[in-house]
Amino acid sequence: MKIISAVTEIREIIKEWKRNGLKVGLVPTMGYLHEGHLSLIKKAVSENDRVVVSIFVNPTQFGPNEDYETYPRDINKDSALCESAGADIIFHPEVSEMYPKGACTYVNMTGLTDALCGKSRPTHFQGVCTVVSKLFNITTPDNAYFGQKDAQQLAVIKRMVKDLNFDINITGCPIIREEDGLAKSSRNTYLNEEERKAALVLHSAITCGQSLVNDGERNASVVINRMKDIINAEPLAKIDYVEIVDMNTMESVSVIQGEILCAIAVYIGKTRLIDNFIANVG
Ligand code: PAJ
Repeated sequence: MKIISAVTEIREIIKEWKRNGLKVGLVPTMGYLHEGHLSLIKKAVSENDRVVVSIFVNPTQFGPNEDYETYPRDINKDSALCESAGADIIFHPEVSEMYPKGACTYVNMTGLTDALCGKSRPTHFQGVCTVVSKLFNITTPDNAYFGQKDAQQLAVIKRMVKDLNFDINITGCPIIREEDGLAKSSRNTYLNEEERKAALVLHSAITCGQSLVNDGERNASVVINRMKDIINAEPLAKIDYVEIVDMNTMESVSVIQGEILCAIAVYIGKTRLIDNFIANVG
């Protein structure tokens, strides 16, 4: 497995793969890999002839007071994990390689990106869409893999691929959790012992919401309020949002019908964590 940081170099290798008729999979990440990322890489390895994992902490998707500087990084551990999962290349560019001096073109989406995380992080999805478009153009994959952990991001990428005619198949992969239910996240490393316990409140709220919907509750406010009560009972937790939206439009619904996304963002101390469930109600 190779670690490559130059766009020209990875392009040459991928062109050669394509000349040989090989199918290429891409797994975009910001590194500090855990089993959530590894599930995407393993899926990509099982469905493609060659797999590229990108590791790039993308500055344009962080807001001014967010954790860009402190975001955890460990390329040595990441490369061992990628190698054991069967990846062929890690693309690990410098910021100056991805955003050379003078770069001023961005990919901007409307509508889908206004809700949920887009509301509390107004420039986030512009940064995500821009970097993912660039990674798609650099690596020209046949397939790209994203986690349902970031359900809005997955919906945004699927829409972007459709709208901008990228010839890439997008595969969504299920949320991987710790044994006690906490969704795996690189940001879990920010939590101290007490906060780690408090963070379980996200999973408790999600589990409660999911069983209410499974048991037939169709009033979105009833579900949301029950989930909020659970989170508010934890002194270290502060709600950013608890919402139920239409899976395709990301617009709030009052009646739970069709394919819906119930998504939450909660601060545990200073750490912002997200979780969600999807339901398809006939
Ligand atoms: P990052 O947070 O590193 O996540 C990379 C991919 O791993 C995303 O598709 C995310 O949804 C998936 N993932 C993270 N935790 C997961 C879990 N517990 N279970 C399943 N999948 C999980 O998302 C990003 O990076 C960036 O926004 C990126 C797309 C790379 C653009 O910079």
